[in-house]
Amino acid sequence: MVFSQLELEETKKIRKYINHLEKNDIFPDTEGAEKFVYIKSGFVFLKYKKTPAIKNSSYEFRKRKHVNDDLIKLGVNTPKIRMAYVDKKENQVEVQLEAPGRVLYYRNEKNAIRFAYSHKYRNCVKKCELKDLSTYLKKKVGEFVADYCIDMQKQLKNATKGQFVKFLRDYKTISNYGINIDYHGENILYSDEKGFYFIDIDENIRESRKQDGDALLVNEIINMIGGFLSFKEIMPEKKVEIIKKNNYTIFKMLFDALKTTNYKITDGEFERLKQEVVAACGYSQRDVLLRELEINRDFKNKMR
Ligand SMILES: Nc1ncnc2c1ncn2[C@@H]1O[C@H](COP(=O)(O)OP(=O)(O)O)[C@@H](O)[C@H]1O
Ligand SMILES: [Mg+2]
Repeated sequence: MVFSQLELEETKKIRKYINHLEKNDIFPDTEGAEKFVYIKSGFVFLKYKKTPAIKNSSYEFRKRKHVNDDLIKLGVNTPKIRMAYVDKKENQVEVQLEAPGRVLYYRNEKNAIRFAYSHKYRNCVKKCELKDLSTYLKKKVGEFVADYCIDMQKQLKNATKGQFVKFLRDYKTISNYGINIDYHGENILYSDEKGFYFIDIDENIRESRKQDGDALLVNEIINMIGGFLSFKEIMPEKKVEIIKKNNYTIFKMLFDALKTTNYKITDGEFERLKQEVVAACGYSQRDVLLRELEINRDFKNKMR
């Protein structure tokens, strides 16, 4: 196999950081349910939590790489999987390119707390769970996660229609390929410049997924956007209201973008989707939403 100069340089950089990771006990930059994540010079090192890796036969590099290559060929915004290795402690590690942007919102408690305190108390909250926090600290975390959501929603409200269209197209491409998307804010990154990026894509193809209708896909996306309110119990009420309003604007943008895609939705499905949107916005928006139905009718007719 012939490697380009760029690939050789990349490999050098990756190897250097692998050495560094092996020699030092480094605190991960972030963490998902299944992986510890280290980010360095444009690369992401995903260390699988299940150990030892050698016994963890569920990791299939070739299969993952194949799906990743295919999706990239189909034009999906997802970072390239570069390589995988087993470290000295027998952890399975996968190296990917770093995707541009930041997660839509935190749905994972640990990450939300870590985010809230990263500027100051990083080391004190390593193992902290929400239930262990005092009322005061819970409130503080609530404020931070609400601010993060509002900030991200502001970015999304300025997103171009083209970015929403691309997002919807990618979502359909991945689903029609036979892959279920774990559709929550920590698996989707957004940046003003590059739009939406999908990470944490499963490698298992399911025939049944290929048959899932477009209405179901939209329903999943509605629920995903609804996730901006994941921590609403600890968010200040005023901010919850802002987030709901922003959700509503984002839904409208999404529905507007849907018109220029090949999603097919029946009348009955459309009625149910509207109810989902109403629920995801919170009932305070109900009247406004119902007034919007005429606009939606236009959307519905174009969809058929
Ligand atoms: N390629 C990537 N680029 C940028 N951030 C990433 C990338 N991969 C993972 N992350 C970050 O790490 C987190 C966890 O990674 P993920 O693959 O979703 O693991 P898990 O299966 O544990 O959820 C993500 O939510 C995201 O914040
Ligand atoms: Mg994830």
